[in-house]
Amino acid sequence: MVWSARLDPTQLRWTQFWVIECQTRMIACGQLRSFAQAQELGSLIVDPDWRGQGLGSYLTNHLIQRASEPLYLECLGQQLRQFYHQRGFDTVSWSALPASLQRKFGLSQLAKTLVRLPIYFMKYQA
Ligand SMILES: CC(C)(COP(=O)(O)OP(=O)(O)OC[C@H]1O[C@@H](n2cnc3c(N)ncnc32)[C@H](O)[C@@H]1OP(=O)(O)O)[C@@H](O)C(=O)NCCC(=O)NCCS
Repeated sequence: MVWSARLDPTQLRWTQFWVIECQTRMIACGQLRSFAQAQELGSLIVDPDWRGQGLGSYLTNHLIQRASEPLYLECLGQQLRQFYHQRGFDTVSWSALPASLQRKFGLSQLAKTLVRLPIYFMKYQA
């Protein structure tokens, strides 16, 4: 699912994932990656046949509740920014990210600066 959605293929450890299944088929997933003094909500994907029915929101809320460190994410495009904003995340600047996530998001920041890709870094505001 992560590869087909063209999302970040790093740190795909199954113990970090939560999934939703329907009749033994995985239809949605999301994970929490751990860093020093931070976690990242990542790999949020809903099978295209199941979108628009609340599964993405449900998983996002679940991951928020399971997070034990300040929670961040990166996303591409206004639509996703809006999706996460409505679920409690605010856009933060590069300088506001913890050092561990600046390292993780380094390439994204480069693409954002050089190619002007609409990439947003966001933090959950408890
Ligand atoms: C983003 C995504 C997880 C939403 O899942 P979902 O189950 O359809 O979400 P819900 O039904 O809970 O909520 C629907 C909301 O998602 C928005 N949405 C639908 N398709 C979307 C898309 N491709 N990108 C961003 N947001 C999308 C809708 O506008 C709707 O917004 P609203 O709450 O203001 O009405 C799903 O579209 C997806 O898997 N996208 C591809 C993978 C991806 O980009 N993941 C995010 C990585 S940061």
